[in-house]
Amino acid sequence: MFEIKNITMIYDMDKAEKVYALKGFDLTLPDKGLIGIIGPSGSGKSTLMYCLSTLKNPTSGNILYNGKELTALRDSERETVRRDEFGFVFQRHFLVPYMSALDNVTVAAAKGGADTVKKATELLSSFGLGSKEISKRPSKLSGGQRQRTAIARAMINSPKVLFADEPTAALDHDNAFLVMEILKEYSKDNLVLVITHDRSILKDADSVIEMWDGDISAIKEASEI
Ligand SMILES: Nc1ncnc2c1ncn2[C@@H]1O[C@H](COP(=O)(O)OP(=O)(O)OP(=O)(O)O)[C@@H](O)[C@H]1O
Ligand SMILES: [Mg+2]
Repeated sequence: MFEIKNITMIYDMDKAEKVYALKGFDLTLPDKGLIGIIGPSGSGKSTLMYCLSTLKNPTSGNILYNGKELTALRDSERETVRRDEFGFVFQRHFLVPYMSALDNVTVAAAKGGADTVKKATELLSSFGLGSKEISKRPSKLSGGQRQRTAIARAMINSPKVLFADEPTAALDHDNAFLVMEILKEYSKDNLVLVITHDRSILKDADSVIEMWDGDISAIKEASEI
């Protein structure tokens, strides 16, 4: 569970022109569920996600993750939390071009071996990539297959929190829907945060956080989405 208190993020601290990307708000996030973050470009969505996931440290405020103050950790400790607890999916897949789909997933695993290959194969298969596809390099896969491979890679260590920044933005409607189905399923036991510009993909979300100009303008529960 995340408890965020009075979080602010100011970019370009040393310049005359400061950007208040996060303006000081509180937010509590549960242990599991699909939570959308929506808002105009520049409203602070990615910055919030980077702060939650330890990729960035906020300028001020507190971020408690299961009682642990993330902002007080050393870089190496933050890295450990990130590796053990968090997974990431971005708009671009960032797969290694010269590796097969299967290798792209197993290379991210905390430990190797037959179990990992089995788990990766099962994950990819459940995402619609059979034995033929998983031996292909990313360039030989469709855009949707590439993104589903990237999601399998993000899930190989069974992260408790999956951060997805515009995971469907480069996909057509059908593939976007498939990706959201996968994320919804994963959110039954884990927390999945999805940033998007596209409200239609959040129809099955458990709640939607609306951001505006570095602040939270509304939080909608499932019945209001
Ligand atoms: N590294 C940076 N240095 C300076 N300013 C930044 C940096 N990253 C983001 N910003 C600024 O912080 C504000 C919030 O940016 P952020 O990327 O969090 O928005 P966003 O909601 O994710 O936008 P988008 O939908 O375009 O991805 C914007 O005004 C942006 O210009
Ligand atoms: Mg962004």
